[in-house]
Amino acid sequence: MAVRNVIQKEDELLRMRSKEVKVFDKKLRDLIDDMWDTMYANNGMGLACPQVGILKRIVVMEVNNMKFELVNPVIIKEEGCDIDEEGCLSCGKIKGKVKRPMVVTVTAQDRYGYNIAITGEKLLARCICHEVDHLNGVLFIDKLEKKES
Ligand code: NI
Repeated sequence: MAVRNVIQKEDELLRMRSKEVKVFDKKLRDLIDDMWDTMYANNGMGLACPQVGILKRIVVMEVNNMKFELVNPVIIKEEGCDIDEEGCLSCGKIKGKVKRPMVVTVTAQDRYGYNIAITGEKLLARCICHEVDHLNGVLFIDKLEKKES
């Protein structure tokens, strides 16, 4: 396992769409383990694979002391609305408020290819949306709430 370099917002890789994972082999699991190492080394709450420069649809997150690994995540349901502050390991010290759904249901596969589904609310919903956005080349700084004048 290894800590990988986290690429920053100027890198055009972060603007590309990541590809679906089709092969669930040891190489994939090693990559996911590296993503965990990299996330923890940077004190992150979540990390998407493109942030380590690899365009695969994989995210890892630790929210409320629960760990989640999502391969090929698809958000299938969104409810409500919640505005709160976000940051990103690829955006330096930038923080800002982003509107997200209050509750999100996501389907995905685990590291062995088994189907899973997760419903999260508030912070977990926010984290899921933020990380899935990364897989589509979207950063939270694209979605910042306008400051009220
Ligand atoms: Ni991020």
